[in-house]
Amino acid sequence: MKAIVIDRFGDAQELHEAEIPVPRIDSDEVLVKMVATSVNPIDWRTRNGTRAGWGFPLLLGMDVSGVIAEVGSNVHRFKVGDAVIARPDNRGTYAEYVAVREDKLALKPATISFEEGAAIPLAGTIAYQVIVQQLAVGKGDKVLVQGGAGGVGLFAIQIAKARGAYVATTASTENHALLRSLGADEVIDYHQTKYTDVLHDYDGVFDTMDDIDNGLKILKPTGRLISIAGQPSFTQQNGHPSARHWRMHPNGQDTAAVAELVATGKVKVIIDSEYPLTTAGLRAAHIRSESHHAHGKIVITIADSPVK
Ligand SMILES: NC(=O)c1ccc[n+]([C@@H]2O[C@H](COP(=O)([O-])OP(=O)(O)OC[C@H]3O[C@@H](n4cnc5c(N)ncnc54)[C@H](OP(=O)(O)O)[C@@H]3O)[C@@H](O)[C@H]2O)c1
Repeated sequence: MKAIVIDRFGDAQELHEAEIPVPRIDSDEVLVKMVATSVNPIDWRTRNGTRAGWGFPLLLGMDVSGVIAEVGSNVHRFKVGDAVIARPDNRGTYAEYVAVREDKLALKPATISFEEGAAIPLAGTIAYQVIVQQLAVGKGDKVLVQGGAGGVGLFAIQIAKARGAYVATTASTENHALLRSLGADEVIDYHQTKYTDVLHDYDGVFDTMDDIDNGLKILKPTGRLISIAGQPSFTQQNGHPSARHWRMHPNGQDTAAVAELVATGKVKVIIDSEYPLTTAGLRAAHIRSESHHAHGKIVITIADSPVK
């Protein structure tokens, strides 16, 4: 099958097309014929050697959106032909076929395109886990979402708004209209204003920028900060307010919950750009992601959407 891989760590030029075997599935897995995937910052951090890889040729990518082509003997909740999305275990998704464990799968609602589906699994699921489960954001809570225009931030703002929170966020001015249209109550241009000067007594901070000390400054004594970008020190973890790191725990239930929010119109998927599954396409997509200024998700199209 066609895939985009790297043979050694390096810059985006290391990404290239290759023929690799279609994965064999275990009994608790399905084989997904991919329609789309997306690029996340962890992809280029792995590509350049900052994060651990898992052997060369290294297949990157962590978002699955496609149709089940084969099911293992112990798979009971999904069948061949189901349209699904998933954040699989670390196997790579820049490919025509991906094996996914059943517990990572969510059905893709028919009203969501495969491209939108590809944007949800990693970014949407971690946003859901942090806002709903880790910060337990509720009605009337004041929450700061750092990096609101990013892949994760856009989901986080909307999920927090769907729970009735008052949401502040940070972004460059060009993204303010978009973020307000999605419900953000207060948008701060971090180039011009320190959010610590204008935000006080917050219940929660979702730190996507490794800016933990500043985040802690705006919290109530009972407030909580969750960072997905940095590791709080021992003192920061146990202070009042407290800080914790959260690493995504992929699971199909949480991914399905986000897909449901999208299907019911409570959350919109914002796509920054789309590129094809080619050497040039992936190189351009990684360069776009490494710019740190994508607004929304960078989607990779792999095959035409199947017609039902
Ligand atoms: N722990 C985990 O399991 C986990 C999972 C997912 C992601 N992450 C991490 O979370 C971070 C965010 O991921 P992502 O996918 O949202 O990244 P992303 O889409 O690449 O984020 C891009 C956005 O960052 C904004 N930005 C850049 N510098 C900023 C600053 N100083 N203050 C506020 N916003 C700033 C930009 O906004 P403007 O253009 O408006 O400036 C841009 O829209 C990454 O570091 C990623 O590795 C961790």
